Amino acid sequence: MNLIGSEKLQKMSASIFQEVADRKKAAMKKGKEVIDLSVGSPDFPPPSFVVDALVKSVQDTSKYGYTLKGIAEFNEAVCYFYKQRYGVDLDHAKEVLQLMGSQDGLAHLATAIINPGEYVLVPDPGYPIYEASVNLAGGVIYPMPLLEENRFLPNLNDIPLEVLQKTKMMIISYPGNPVTALADEAFFEEVIEFARTHNILVVHDFAYSELIFDNHPQISFMAVPGAKEVGIEFNSLSKTFNMAGCRIGYVVGNEEAINLLATFKSNIDYGVFYPIQQAAVKALTSDFSYLHEQVKEYELRREALIAGLKKSGWQVAKSPATMFVWAKIPEGWTSRQFAFELIDQAGVAVIPGDAFGSLGEGYVRIALVQPPVMLSQAAERIEQFLADRLIEK
Ligand SMILES: Cc1ncc(COP(=O)(O)O)c(C=O)c1O
Repeated sequence: MNLIGSEKLQKMSASIFQEVADRKKAAMKKGKEVIDLSVGSPDFPPPSFVVDALVKSVQDTSKYGYTLKGIAEFNEAVCYFYKQRYGVDLDHAKEVLQLMGSQDGLAHLATAIINPGEYVLVPDPGYPIYEASVNLAGGVIYPMPLLEENRFLPNLNDIPLEVLQKTKMMIISYPGNPVTALADEAFFEEVIEFARTHNILVVHDFAYSELIFDNHPQISFMAVPGAKEVGIEFNSLSKTFNMAGCRIGYVVGNEEAINLLATFKSNIDYGVFYPIQQAAVKALTSDFSYLHEQVKEYELRREALIAGLKKSGWQVAKSPATMFVWAKIPEGWTSRQFAFELIDQAGVAVIPGDAFGSLGEGYVRIALVQPPVMLSQAAERIEQFLADRLIEK
């Protein structure tokens, strides 16, 4: 059969994650031991009380049917969590929608909202589904550069008026992936004013809301006055409670936008497995001491990696949040060359920055998905690799 993928599929690039995985496999076949810091899937277990709730619920054979939009207790638990953690009041019936991971919502929102030819403002670099979702919808991507000199915030004044006239939605994420920067309230206020002026739906991805370090404030976009009028916020239990494989997340905020996504989803899926929802309720209504411990663990990992890399002469900025380090690479390589040589020669797998947009060139993303001792070891290998390279030159 001569089967060619659709034009929409062809617009999606083959996943760099697969390419890195293949490269790692090839290196291992040649006998290289590889420390894998490529994929952002947490290696920590979920809290034991969450696992217990899941196990108990799985025994109930009356709960194996479709769950559609999910159980009311889940929406109520999200409201409780948002109030406790971010001081945000939400209406559980109208301002919360359960998702099969935030990816589900991020992937489908544009198709529910955007017509072919309409513009969406997307961060560059940014998490890949933002761009892919707009392509699926037939929308037009307008990249918003995130530059170090502007604290990785987009400069909204740089966007031409003729673009804004055709723009229906913008996507932002603080802290984000791969750019780990935080936004302050003043930036969010500016975004709300901008969205009001130009009638744009703001989509804030807050998937890393509980991986914020050094006592920086955890600012939900929804906590800023006016946000609900113009925006929604995606969140998830994947990173917060290490439930990435459970596939459960949610979106909160603007009722109209949530309704549109709910209508779309009612046509394509039948909801999350009931026991997973029960486990999520348990997680969201816990005493949160687990979250404080987890932040400390990630801080230790970040310190181990950055201190190790510093010894090699590679100065890497300290992430204020997330499970990643967004590292500007030393001169003399492209992102891909550097990432691939690290796998082949140092035995350390990371993701080249250009996978997240053209402005990711010159960076690599390193995931803090191994214990501090392994991260120190990875840094030692990189130190040796850089030293060898210096000798070669
Ligand atoms: C920024 C960001 N948003 C959303 C997601 C999707 O997460 P999930 O679908 O597991 O909630 C990820 C996953 O890595 C992410 O990094």
